[in-house]
Amino acid sequence: MRRKHLVAIVVVIFLTWNFLMYYMLVSKNPGKLGSISVEDQLKILQGDIRHQLSHNSELLQHLQELDRKIHQTTTPVPYDANRFILPILLIACDRTTVSRSLDLLIKYRPNKNKFPIIVSQDCGHKPTADVIQRYVMEHDIKHIKHPNISDIHLPWPQKKFQGYYKLSRHYRWALNQVFHTFNHSAVVIVEDDLDISPDFYEYFSATFPILHQDPSLWCVSAWNDNGKLDMVSDDAELLYRSDFFPGLGWMMEKSTWLEIGPKWPDAFWDDWMRHPDQRRGRACIRPEICRTSTFGKKGVSKGLFYEKHLKFIKLNSKFVPFTQKDLSYLLKDKYDTYFTKLVKDTPEVTVAEAMSGHRSNMKALKILYSTKDEYKSTAKKLGIMDDFKAGVPRVAYNGVVSFMYRGQRIYLSPPPGWKGYNIKWS
Ligand code: UD1
Ligand code: MN
Repeated sequence: MRRKHLVAIVVVIFLTWNFLMYYMLVSKNPGKLGSISVEDQLKILQGDIRHQLSHNSELLQHLQELDRKIHQTTTPVPYDANRFILPILLIACDRTTVSRSLDLLIKYRPNKNKFPIIVSQDCGHKPTADVIQRYVMEHDIKHIKHPNISDIHLPWPQKKFQGYYKLSRHYRWALNQVFHTFNHSAVVIVEDDLDISPDFYEYFSATFPILHQDPSLWCVSAWNDNGKLDMVSDDAELLYRSDFFPGLGWMMEKSTWLEIGPKWPDAFWDDWMRHPDQRRGRACIRPEICRTSTFGKKGVSKGLFYEKHLKFIKLNSKFVPFTQKDLSYLLKDKYDTYFTKLVKDTPEVTVAEAMSGHRSNMKALKILYSTKDEYKSTAKKLGIMDDFKAGVPRVAYNGVVSFMYRGQRIYLSPPPGWKGYNIKWS
């Protein structure tokens, strides 16, 4: 009896609620609903439902991510080097010269089962698709196509950034494919205008265990932003930690994607990654001598950077058998102790002194900077990159930027007692 009552009450409340909602809608749009044809009303309703559905699926995805996060173990699972698979994701669009990147990726690949190549193509460009298809037949690579190549509608001031929006959307989709559809546990991402060095695979294979083991690392990159010929030593073995996310041929683990994928930005993904909200104090491993270089003169960022900077980058040509070396010095504790001491013990000079060559007998020199302008002016004089992203100078680790100047190692360093990066420096 009581149950029947309850049901009746719920039904009455439900009906009253529906009635009220209908009444409110009509009175909010006086005459509107009435004057719209049934067909239009249906269309509106369809639109609403579609919107709701997409909203729901977003929610569901978000829930699944959360669920995955909760069930992830906090201590990394030991990994088996022999069974480990490291896919290479090549981001392509409308440049048939993707064949140049693919040729090198295939040429240097030691094992096709261990390093499957996935080309993800945006832009729906048929000639490029045909080129990629040739590699599918001959080299057993995977060719996936971004299903959404629609234009992105942007208000006028942002319209010129359309390319950045499209490629960010493509990255999101492609990385979701790698981690959720193909279920890989890590990835190396390259773009369609990159050459690679002979030890590209060796480098990423050897650094993977370090990345996996050290929670203060979130990427390994093939790139040194100050990697021009006269700014690097010829020590191809030399590797560093960097607080600056370099991109341009880089590896991350699935756990990182689970964290950043759901909030992936609509544009400018690389600068977004450099923001403290994403980076959260984590570093990348980077080499002294680049393991990639770009031949993409005309890109989304319009090529200025290429002529001024990128075309001078030195690509490593020696094969370093990294997997046979002990790279544990890159783990945070060991590295911080060693690197701090190294910089501390290096004699300090002024920029003028360093440039004069009077101290050229020393192996390394240190120049201090305390302000943003000091940094910029010194960087300009010595020819290194002088910009900051989220307050971090390119290649910096704990504020220290290491490079070669006329055959001598220079550490451009903040003074002792450094308090961290200032996000306002730009
Ligand atoms: C620069 C960076 C690049 C970064 C991008 C986003 C350098 C040398 N390159 O791109 O690493 O990802 O900014 O901030 O600093 N692409 C699409 N869809 C498009 C257009 C391009 O997927 O609609 C792909 C291209 O195939 C390429 C990548 O996006 O793989 C970058 O495009 P590119 O034209 O080379 O732009 P950059 O200016 O080099
Ligand atoms: Mn490019």
